[in-house]
Parts: sequence; C-alpha cells; structure tokens
Amino acid sequence: MRKKITIPEILQMKHDGRRITVLTAYDFPFARLVDAGGVDMILVGDSAGVVVAGHDTTLPVTMDEMLYHVKAVRRAEPKALVVADMPFMSYQTGTEDACRNCGRMIKEGGAEAVKVEGGMNMAHVIRAVSQIDIPVMAHIGLTPQSVHRMGGYKVQGRKEQAERILEDAYAVQSAGAFAVVLEGIPAKLAADITAELSIPTIGIGAGPACDGQVLVIHDILGLCEKYSPKFVKRYADLGPLISDAVKQYVTEVQNGEFPTEAHSFS
Ligand code: KIV
Repeated sequence: MRKKITIPEILQMKHDGRRITVLTAYDFPFARLVDAGGVDMILVGDSAGVVVAGHDTTLPVTMDEMLYHVKAVRRAEPKALVVADMPFMSYQTGTEDACRNCGRMIKEGGAEAVKVEGGMNMAHVIRAVSQIDIPVMAHIGLTPQSVHRMGGYKVQGRKEQAERILEDAYAVQSAGAFAVVLEGIPAKLAADITAELSIPTIGIGAGPACDGQVLVIHDILGLCEKYSPKFVKRYADLGPLISDAVKQYVTEVQNGEFPTEAHSFS
C-alpha cells in the first residue's frame, strides 16, 4: 500500500529528481479514481466553476462551493496530498481575510495545503498564510483569475515579460510557498525558473522541464468539450462512451427491455 504523501515528501521529490504528478478532482468518486491512479497531489481546483458548474471563467466560484468540493474529495481519504484552490476574492482583500479563508479550507474542508494565484503582488498573502503553518502552493504566469487584466487566456512571459515572471517566482519562494504552478509560459522560461528555484515547479502549458505536471481531469478524459487548450493531452474519450450508455438505457426503457425480472423484487 502506498504511503500518505506529505509536504516534506513533495520537497524531497524535487531534490531526488522524481517528477511530481498532479490532477484535479472535485468530488468523491473522481478523488478515489485519481488517487487509485497514483497521483502525488489532488488539486481541488476552482476550475470546478468551469468544468463542473458550467461558468465561462473561474471568477464566480465561492468559498462555500470550494468547501463543498474539498470536503467531498477528503471523504475519499486519498493518499495524495489534497490542495484546495482559493477562489477569487477569498484572499486578495488582505492577509486577515486570506488567513481566515485558507484556515477554513484546512479546518472545515480537511485540505492539507492551499493554492493562491499571484506573484510579487501576492507575496504578502503567501507569507502571512505560510507563517500560520498553512502550506501554500503559488500559481504564476497565466493566472485564470486575472483573465480580465490579461485580456483572455493568453501565454504570459514572452519577451520582456519574462523577467517579471522570473521575479514572481523568486518572490513566492521567498514568501514561503512550498511549490509553484507555472501556467501558460514559454518552455524555456519554465526551464530557467525550475533550475533557479529550490521549491518544486508544477507545469501546465509550461513545457517538459518542470518538476511536475498538473492537468484538469475533465480535459484528459474528454469530458469537457468547451475548451481544448494546446497543452492538454486527452488520455481517454469518455464523453461519447457516456452518451452511448445513456442512449442504450433510453432505448431499452422505451422498448420495455429494461427493467427485466432480474432487476425486480418478488
Ligand atoms: O483550478 C485549477 O484547476 C488550476 C489548475 C489548472 C492549475 O488552477
């Protein structure tokens, strides 16, 4: 049986050159399946707002919604480290709000770490939350909660922007983040950051050199038709399988083929 994954283990993995695997999950059945697949971390992402709730962005997601998802994932008792994504406006308003809301994810939700978006601009928040012993994973580059500032989901850190992303990486490390997600940045920049930092980098659309990778579970299983970013690899196409099963059920009920005696009580 595999061991429970802890923060020191995640740090050790970078040290040993072992790659860190991360996937999202938002509910009990997927948390069990993802954990059985052997990931090191389950990110209860605010991407739930898009792939589960059907919003166009992650901005409408609330603390209560995230707590619901985190609790459901924790009930699966995964060996993977459970990281709760902090929703928009739960930490940007100041260190007091950030500590209180991150604390709720740990205390009420049962998460083992939290994730916040932002670099230099959120270093004070990462420092305050880390100082009360809540492990923080930072998230820099293409940060989906900044969709309006960025003018869409665009690759960040090209040309003269690269220096700023590098400074963001140093800032979140000095503030106490235990790891940093690098999203939507050029592969060369991600490689440079990964070589410079002592904390693990977890890439998504950031090339192959990061210490680990994260993807959204619905994307790799073909369950989200809405968006298909270039960085996603589809490992299964479950959408048509599910629709076919539903069609068969509908036909059988309509034809009187289901239920039979085998599915009935005497
Ligand atoms: O919300 C999320 O799922 C994320 C990952 C894509 C990094 O932030």
